Amino acid sequence: MPTSAGRHFLQIPGPTNVPDRVLRAMDMPTMDHRGPEFAELSLEILQGLKQVFKTSSDVIIYPASGTGAWEAALVNTLSPGDKVLMFETGHFATLWKGIAGDLELEVEFVEGDWRHGVDPKAVEAKLSADTNHDIKAVMVVHNETSTGVTSRIGAIRQAIDSSAHPALFMVDVISSLGSIDYRHDEWGVDVTVAGSQKGLMLPPGLSFNAVSAKALAASENAGLAASYWRWQPMIAANKTGYFPYTPATNLLYALRESLQMLLQEGLDNVFARHQRHAEATRRAVRAWGLEILCLNPEEYSAALTAVLVPEGHDADHLRNVILQRFNMSLGTGLAKVQGRVFRIGHLGDFNDLMLAGTLSGVEMGLAAAGIPFNKGGISAALDYLAAEA
Ligand SMILES: Cc1ncc(COP(=O)(O)O)c(C=O)c1O
Repeated sequence: MPTSAGRHFLQIPGPTNVPDRVLRAMDMPTMDHRGPEFAELSLEILQGLKQVFKTSSDVIIYPASGTGAWEAALVNTLSPGDKVLMFETGHFATLWKGIAGDLELEVEFVEGDWRHGVDPKAVEAKLSADTNHDIKAVMVVHNETSTGVTSRIGAIRQAIDSSAHPALFMVDVISSLGSIDYRHDEWGVDVTVAGSQKGLMLPPGLSFNAVSAKALAASENAGLAASYWRWQPMIAANKTGYFPYTPATNLLYALRESLQMLLQEGLDNVFARHQRHAEATRRAVRAWGLEILCLNPEEYSAALTAVLVPEGHDADHLRNVILQRFNMSLGTGLAKVQGRVFRIGHLGDFNDLMLAGTLSGVEMGLAAAGIPFNKGGISAALDYLAAEA
C-alpha cells in the first residue's frame, strides 16, 4: 500500500534535499533588487562563491538551470566552426555535446563505455596530435551524474600542460561542487559550470560560470551570438552588487545560507562526509552481490553510486516498488543504461541515519521486487560507519 505518512526520501542524485535552514532563509518578502540591501546580499554571496569554487576569479550567477550555464560557457568563448574536444563519459557529457553541435561547433567526441572517466592519457594524445592547435577547448564533466564516475580534473590539467596546447579547459561541476573536492584556480580551469540543486543544497533555478582571465580574454573575440548569457555586463554590474536583469532574489537568500553552512562545516569536512557515505554505500552494494557501474576505484563518485541490476531484471521496476512501498525516490538509469542501473544519491544535506534509511529501503526493495541478492548490505554499511565515526 502506498503511504504518505512520514517524510519522502529523496535519494536521487539531485535535486537534493534542501535543509530547513535554507528553506527558512528564502521564506522572505520580495526585496528591491536595485536597493542597498540587495547589493549587500549579492556582494556577500559573490565572495562566498569564490571560496567554494576555490577561485579568485569572477563567478557569474544565472537565473537558469545548469543547461543554461553549459550554453553560456560556449557562447562566451567560442566562434562558429571552432573545434572542441569532448568525452563520452555518460548522459550529461552527451547532452553538453548536443549543445555544442546545436551551436555549430565541430565536436570531436571521444567514445566511452559509461564506466570510466576521462583518460588523461587520451587527452594528452589528442592534444599532442593537434599540432595546428585547431582544438579551441577541451570539455569534461567532473562528476558524471548518470554513471557515478568522477573524472580526475587535476590529472587532465597536467595532460593538457604536458601537450603544451593552448586550448581552453571547461569543466562541468554540476553534481560535484560542494560534494567532491574541486579547485578552479589550482587546476587551471577556464570555465567551470555549476548548478544550485545538488551539493549546494538549493532548489533548482540557479547556475554558475566561474571564469578565468584567459576565458575572459577569449570572450572578447568570441563569434557565437550571445546576449542574455554575456559575461561582461554581468561582471560590470556585479562589481557594485547588482545584476543587469532581474536576479532570482529569494534563491539568493537561500544561496547565502547554504554557502554559510558549507563554510561553517568546512569544505574538507564536507568532502570527507561525502566520501564516507559513498564508501559505506559501496560496501552495501558489494554485500548484496550487485555490481557498481564505475569500474575504476580511483574514479568512484562520492556524490552518488550507480548500481547494475542482474541481467534479466529491470532497475525501473525496482525503483517503482521502492517508491510505492517505502516512499523513496532513487535515480533512474538514463539513456544507454535505462533499466540496467539505479542510482543512489548520497550528496548534499545528508547524514549517517539518512544513509541507513536509504540503504534499508534499497535492501527491502530488492526483496520485494524479486531481484536476487544477498542479505547483509545494511550491516556492512553500518559496520563501516560505526568504525569510521
Ligand atoms: C553533471 C550534470 N550536468 C548538467 C546537468 C544539467 O543541468 P540542468 O538539468 O540543471 O539543466 C545535470 C543535471 O542533472 C548534471 O547532473
